[in-house]
Order: sequence, then C-alpha cells, then structure tokens
Amino acid sequence: MAILLPGGAGYIGSHTAVELLNAEKEIIILDDFSNSKPIILDKIKQITGKDFKFYEMNYLDRQKLEKVFEENKIDAVLNFAGYKAVGESVQKPLEYYTNNISGCLVLLETMKKYEVKKFIFSSSATVYGEPEMIPITEKCKTGGTTNPYGTSKLFIEQILKDTYYSDPTWDICILRYFNPVGAHESGLIGEEPQGIPNNLMPYIVRVAAGILEQLSVYGNDYDTPDGTGVRDYIHVVDLAKGHVAALKKLDQEQKGLYIYNLGTGNGYSVLDMVQAFERATGKKVPYKIAPRRQGDIATCYADPKKAKEELNWVATKTLEDMCKDSWRYIMKK
Ligand code: UFG
Repeated sequence: MAILLPGGAGYIGSHTAVELLNAEKEIIILDDFSNSKPIILDKIKQITGKDFKFYEMNYLDRQKLEKVFEENKIDAVLNFAGYKAVGESVQKPLEYYTNNISGCLVLLETMKKYEVKKFIFSSSATVYGEPEMIPITEKCKTGGTTNPYGTSKLFIEQILKDTYYSDPTWDICILRYFNPVGAHESGLIGEEPQGIPNNLMPYIVRVAAGILEQLSVYGNDYDTPDGTGVRDYIHVVDLAKGHVAALKKLDQEQKGLYIYNLGTGNGYSVLDMVQAFERATGKKVPYKIAPRRQGDIATCYADPKKAKEELNWVATKTLEDMCKDSWRYIMKK
C-alpha cells in the first residue's frame, strides 16, 4: 500500500518524502512543478537510495487523479500541493482558492470514490489569526485570517471537520505548521522561493550570500523583548518527521479527526535570528529597521505538548542546525 503525496516535489513535500522512504514506506509523488523542479525527484532518490513512482500532473485534474487511484493501491494521502505565498495570495485570491480549496476537494472526492479515507493536511499556525494566548494550544480559537492563503487553510480545516462528522470512517490529521526553515543536512534539497523571498530565513541567507543587499526588519516597536516579531521556527526535517508520526497515529489508533501544532515551543525574534545566523555561519547579515509589514502579528509560538503526548514527536533540531543547514543548501546550489 502506497502513500500518495500531491506536491511531493515541493519544500515540505520533498523532505517528508525522504522521511517516509527512510521509514520504509512506499510513496507516490504527484507534482506539476509549478513551484518545484524535476531534479528534486533525483535528489530524493539520491538521499534515500530508494525509488518511487511519479506522475507529472496537476492535482485538480480529476481524470488523471482517478487513473492514479485505479493504477495503485493507495492507503493514505498527504497533501502538499497548496500554494503558500501570503503576499501573492492577496494579489491572486481566485488562483489561491482554486488551487488550494478546489484541489483539495477534488482530492477528497476521489479518495471517497476509491474508499481511501486516511488524510493528513498541511495546515498552518496562520489559522489562529491574532492568537488568543501564547503559547498557542490547539484549543485556541481559530479565525481572523488576514489573507486568502490563510483563509484557504481555515476553510479546508472546516471542510475536513464537516467531512469527518458526516462519515466517521474518515481518518484525518490536521497539522498546523509554525515557521518551517532549514534544509536537509545533505544540502541536496531545501527551500526554493521564486523571485525575492518574502520569508525571513531565505532572505537572511541571500543577504549573507551577497545576493541581496540588506535585510529589512519589519518593525522594532512590537510588544516583544527586543521590539521585533517573534516566531516559532522549526527545522523542516523535524516537521517532516512529524508527518511520519502522524501517519503512525492514524495507522494505530481508532479512526478520528486529530489536530496538532507542529512547532518547537520556542519563540525567537527577528534580531535573534540574525544573530543566530551570524554565529552559526560566521557571515554578516546587514539589516535596517523598516516599517511594520501589514498583516503581521507580534508573537506566535506553539505549545507543542499535545503532539509530544499523542504522537510521541518533538522537534530536536536547534536554531544552529536551522541556520547551518539553510546556509549549506544555498552554498551547494
Ligand atoms: N520579517 C522581516 N523581514 C523580512 C521577512 C520577515 O523582518 O524580510 C519578519 C516578519 O515581520 C516576522 C518574521 O520575520 O516577524 C517572520 O516572517 P516570515 O515571513 O518568515 O513568516 P510569517 O510568520 O509571516 O509567516 C509564516 C509563513 C506563513 C504561515 C505563518 C504561520 O510564511 O505561510 O508563518 O504563522 F502562515
């Protein structure tokens, strides 16, 4: 029985593919390379020494998707095919809602048709909006998202809840990612943002490498220890292992709808990140203080206790690992 990974050549998908193969799982990747490259498939094989089936297709293509389910024995689906750029989602809401929500619906309908009901969804801490409390537990209220990307995650969570309540033979896990950073320690796979990056770590890396001139720190007047935004940065390999743990949970426990935060429980500010990166790599990261970025919140970090207790999963990689691995990846390219 295989695990199907739509978007498996992307940033989180490729790292999860590696961890699933390392755990001796059979995987099938679907990808249209809209935000990834074919070479990533070879890198996954190179890292793991294992092979897998691949289909080049958009997961909205119902006919092709049905063929995949007809040709293979699929046990579970992990969906990594969502678009994820916050700023772009504000410019292109229809593209985001179509790809993220309609794509997920086509996937769920096809799964239902072929009686595959084990599903892991890549959600985001963004569903908590302005957090009710810090650290954020899974019980905190959701809503108040400030962009179509975040709203698409919120809507899909609701769709999954309604699907489960209508038919409890579904077995669903919603994983709310905090801030994924870093790359595989081999330096073979990592994050590949298109154009100028929006997220902090890829920007820092490019400033250190001399590709970009200086970092703009968006606001130093937040109610945080040094005034800059605080986030829960999690190494992508830890995050990937969280999916393997979630799959194990679905395999072992009775059917249900489970929700987990995947974070470290530590909050670091923008300036903490700059300093940690400089320490880990010996590179300078020139920066200037700029106005706040619209839609940003002051502080966001997880209470990761539930995942520890129920999935037996904790993030083990350090901030130094995150910085070193991000740097190694860009240097190897
Ligand atoms: N920041 C800067 N300068 C930059 C980029 C970011 O100062 O050039 C700051 C931001 O203001 C924020 C922090 O660095 O305080 C982190 O920003 P990111 O853009 O890296 O991450 P966000 O927390 O804004 O968003 C991320 C993901 C979203 C996800 C969200 C969940 O990009 O997909 O975490 O909380 F929804």
